[in-house]
This record gives sequence, structure tokens and C-alpha cells, in this order.
Amino acid sequence: MSPPNDTQTLTTVRDFVRWGASRFREAGLHFGHGTDNALDEAYFLVLQGLHLPFDLPATYLEAALTVAERDAVLKLLRARIVTRKPAAYLLGEIQFAGFDFHVDERVLIPRSPIGELIERGYAPWLGGDPARILDLCAGSGCIGIASALVFPEAQVDLADLSAGALAVCRKNIRRHHVERRVRALKSDVYDGLGDARYDLIVTNPPYVSTAEWKALHPEYRHEPRMALDAGTDGMDVVARILEGAAAHLNPGGTLICEVGGSVEAFEARWPRLPVTWIEFERGGDGVFLIGREALLEHL
Ligand SMILES: C[S@@+](CC[C@H](N)C(=O)[O-])C[C@H]1O[C@@H](n2cnc3c(N)ncnc32)[C@H](O)[C@@H]1O
Repeated sequence: MSPPNDTQTLTTVRDFVRWGASRFREAGLHFGHGTDNALDEAYFLVLQGLHLPFDLPATYLEAALTVAERDAVLKLLRARIVTRKPAAYLLGEIQFAGFDFHVDERVLIPRSPIGELIERGYAPWLGGDPARILDLCAGSGCIGIASALVFPEAQVDLADLSAGALAVCRKNIRRHHVERRVRALKSDVYDGLGDARYDLIVTNPPYVSTAEWKALHPEYRHEPRMALDAGTDGMDVVARILEGAAAHLNPGGTLICEVGGSVEAFEARWPRLPVTWIEFERGGDGVFLIGREALLEHL
């Protein structure tokens, strides 16, 4: 059913945010791609649709929209309901670790808690600034590119199996002017990387079980299946990452890997692996860290 056309009385920025939030709740949308409720999602779409900053002083919420702006904003809000596409795909943009990234349906929408780690330069987890970083399963390249921006001397490889994801990585590399330090490489886990070694391997791989993937809300179905579904227990790609990590880390190097809500499946497979689970101030969990030497000893 299309949303009702009862928008003639809406005039201000605040009106459109409120109307959008009401329609989103009425339609039973799911929020999990950068926001977790209808009001924030509507605020994000309306403000971005009007090219306004998110820290807009409250007084401007009372500003009236022009006819063209009304049409553009209503189109976005309606598209969110009818298509069930997450807001970031409708806008083609999202912020991650304080930086703007291009996104489209070839890549997962960035939302990893690793963004918080990057903002603090991975403190207190790394011995020093990493000279060589691998962002494995890079998607949009958000983790690797944001890391490159935080460590201006680092050389960074973004690796992904998806040609579409690599095209988005390259767009984001150009956007952030890091062509001389960051490259996007096609690689099935480590298979396309030769004998390259890194000080830091950071990865947000697919880790959802096939059964869980089948039960996901429609919003997640717009994301590439290979970005989420990783087999019976969700650990197919994580297993390959762990197996090859020591061979691709320099002495003293570190692997940081997200397994999100699949911590139980991870611990069932590797009950004695001495990983450290990282705690986050802004929410999110399921990210572990392990050093090369511990990997050598235990795997
Ligand atoms: C969960 S997404 C993460 C994207 C990005 N790192 C982020 O945090 O937004 C996982 C990515 O892994 C890629 N991928 C899946 N299987 C892979 C494999 N065998 N080798 C390399 N990349 C793979 C997918 O194409 C997808 O881009």
C-alpha cells in the first residue's frame, strides 16, 4: 500500500521529520543501518535531502521548505517506505569514523564498531603506528581508508572478492585523495595477496549463518548476500582469516576481526583461542584482537 498523500499542511523541516517518523513506524520499517529508530532515520533522510548538517541549530528546524525541496524530501521518505532500502542507499552516502563514504548496493552499509577504534587510532591496542595495514573483506573500503586517514604514513591494502565492492573502494580512494597509499585488490581472503605481510590486519568479514540470513528484515536483503551469509555457522570466512593471518602478519603484528552477534559460534569453533574481546563506548560488540605470536602458538 502506498503512503497516503496528506502532506499539504507540512511546511517546516521539523514537520517533515515528524511526518516521516510517523509513516515509518506505521509501515513497520526496520532500522539497523546507522540509526536504530524512526525519528533518527527520518532526521537523517530529511537533513541529508536538504543538504543540511546534522548539527543544525534548532532554530532552523522551523525554516520552511521550497516546493522543489518538499518534492525531493517527500520522494526520499516515500522511497524508504516503498522500497525498504536503508537510508544510506537512497542517499548514496554515509559517515563512518567521522569521514564521508560513497555507498551503493554493491557494498554493505558501513556500521562496524571498529569505526570507534579507528577514531581513537586503535588506542590502546597497537604497540605503535602500523606502517602496513590490510583491510580484509573491505566492502566500501571504509575501514581501510579511515585507517589510512588516521595514520598518514601507512600503506593500506583493501582486499575483497567482489568486483563491485572494489569499484566502490576505488571511488572512495579517489574521494579521499589517498591513491598513493591505498590500493584495492581482488582477493579471495588472502589468495590474491601473494606473500604480502602487514602490521595490522583489520577485518569485518561476513559472519551471519545462512539460516539467520534467510530470516533477516527486508532492509538487509538490499545488501549483497556475500557480505553477510557465511555458511552453516557463519564462520566459513572467519576460519580462513584465522588460518592465514600469522603468515600475513609481521612479527608483533595484530589481527582485529569482527564477528558481531556470532560470538557463540566463534567460541564453539575456537574455545581455547586466547582472543581479547574489545569493549566499545558507543555500543556494539563481537570484535576480537589477537597477536601473531598467539596465533602461531594456538592454531
Ligand atoms: C560484512 S562486509 C564488510 C564490508 C566493510 N568492511 C564494512 O565494514 O563495511 C564483508 C565483505 O566481505 C567480502 N567477502 C565475502 N567473501 C569474501 C572472500 N572469500 N574473500 C574476500 N572478501 C570476501 C564481501 O564482498 C563484503 O564486501
